[in-house]
Amino acid sequence: MSVFTDVYAVGHPNPDPNVPEKLETNFESAAAKRADNAVEVADSLMKNRFSCRWYLPKPVEKETIEAIIDAARCAPSGNNMQPWEKVYCISGAVKDAISRELVEGNTTHPEAYSGQYHYYPTGPIPPVYAKRRFDFGKYFYAPLHVDHGDLKARARVSVRNYEFFNAPVAFIFTINNALTQGSWMDLGYFLQSITIAARARGLETISQESTARYQLILRKHLPIGDNEIVALGMTMGYPDLDKIAEFTAKQPKREVSDIIEFFGI
Ligand SMILES: Cc1cc2nc3c(=O)[nH]c(=O)nc-3n(C[C@H](O)[C@H](O)[C@H](O)COP(=O)(O)O)c2cc1C
Repeated sequence: MSVFTDVYAVGHPNPDPNVPEKLETNFESAAAKRADNAVEVADSLMKNRFSCRWYLPKPVEKETIEAIIDAARCAPSGNNMQPWEKVYCISGAVKDAISRELVEGNTTHPEAYSGQYHYYPTGPIPPVYAKRRFDFGKYFYAPLHVDHGDLKARARVSVRNYEFFNAPVAFIFTINNALTQGSWMDLGYFLQSITIAARARGLETISQESTARYQLILRKHLPIGDNEIVALGMTMGYPDLDKIAEFTAKQPKREVSDIIEFFGI
């Protein structure tokens, strides 16, 4: 008898005979087997994370990247579909060639490019979100001494996206175009797992919807299939803490009491 005949009613189609009789159950329980400082470490990895736009010119080992993906691949997903279709990891000459074309595209004819989905609403945004978005700009541009209304200066700042912020490594994440919002949510779990696994190794990241918008250029350099939607870019590297201290303001976050409502507890 297999675990499936235990669970499913009589008459359920026969389970795959390749499914093991006994499921692996040696999950490490965080509660039963946790390091003394697990809470402190986990909270610090999450609470101190930030989008890193300044990196040291120090390479990231391929083994380290594999270890990060090895951790992140354990992210949950609906029906365990694991819809992180492909992770394209670029560095060195390939990254430089892509970057040159992205910068050119962004500075000369950005209107020729668009993403395969709307990251932001195309219609009106509810005021609370519009305000947070406006506040983001204030915190973002102030340490760069860029006036919110100075569009030329803002463009000079935003072109750094296409230089991958001088990070040694960048990623392009794709998702199958037959999949729906649930799978996009799953992809988010995977992506955040990468950012945290990277931090645990002294690395930082920034997610980039901006590079996904230039998917036509990315497709020229990478074997991205027609059924793949370019969902997101991300850079990764060792942080340049001096530059970060000078040019980055911590973005404000909502208070716990503003986020959660309790019932019956
Ligand atoms: C999916 C996603 C896409 C993003 N795309 C960009 C981007 O293209 N360029 C950029 O500078 N920041 C990008 N960001 C970073 C956000 O601006 C940043 O997360 C937000 O302002 C909060 O700041 P923090 O990450 O430092 O807490 C992106 C973040 C996410 C989650």
